[in-house]
Amino acid sequence: MSGQPPVITVDGPSGVGKGTLCQWLATRLGFHLLDSGALYRLTALAALRQGLALEDENAVAAVAASLDVRFVARADCSPGILLADEEVGDRIRGEDCGAAASRVAALPAVRAALLQRQRDFRRSPGLVADGRDMGTVVFPAAELKLFLTASAAERARRRYKQLSEKGIDANLESLANEIAARDARDAERAVAPLKPAVDAQILDTTQLDIPEVCDWALKWAIRRLGLMENP
Ligand code: DC
Repeated sequence: MSGQPPVITVDGPSGVGKGTLCQWLATRLGFHLLDSGALYRLTALAALRQGLALEDENAVAAVAASLDVRFVARADCSPGILLADEEVGDRIRGEDCGAAASRVAALPAVRAALLQRQRDFRRSPGLVADGRDMGTVVFPAAELKLFLTASAAERARRRYKQLSEKGIDANLESLANEIAARDARDAERAVAPLKPAVDAQILDTTQLDIPEVCDWALKWAIRRLGLMENP
């Protein structure tokens, strides 16, 4: 190991269940959590609020570099996200912010502006990092790299269920189309495209439920990080 706090990277496409797994794993191990997608979503939201065109790479990168963001624990222990002291955790989860995030995430200067900010999340006793390029670019020497996949149809179904439970109107077909478009953009972009690191452990979760995925990840964490079964 590097002498630095250990990092577990969890990469994969949208709607594959990384967020749920990462929150569970971070809580289980007592590790910090990096939700890197939130940083791209926040950048998109802040840029739109400033009336910027999302293609204006230098201007959007300047927004990314100066994001006034704080991740805080809410009273119910779920993560809260403050942008210039305004709670925007629910706001940035919307499909509009997701689509805008995918566009700003394709800009190399934006990715560069967010790189060190992401690495700064590595603090003792360890970090669980959720994203698309955690194991390939941000933490290439991570102690454990996990990569989740699931069919696009299954991911659309999960997203639909998630939105319905929150009382948000959604259409399964348009969700599936949005997911396919976002996948293509994330996988085909020139910088940090979505792909597993060569040394990543890959799990297809299409047929698995959340406890099964958590169990698989915890077993790898115990094996790789030399953790006790019941830390
Ligand atoms: O994981 P998410 O849905 O919150 O991510 C939002 C967008 O940001 C998604 O389209 C891909 C992009 N993203 C990225 O390019 N790199 C990351 N490490 C995380 C997210």
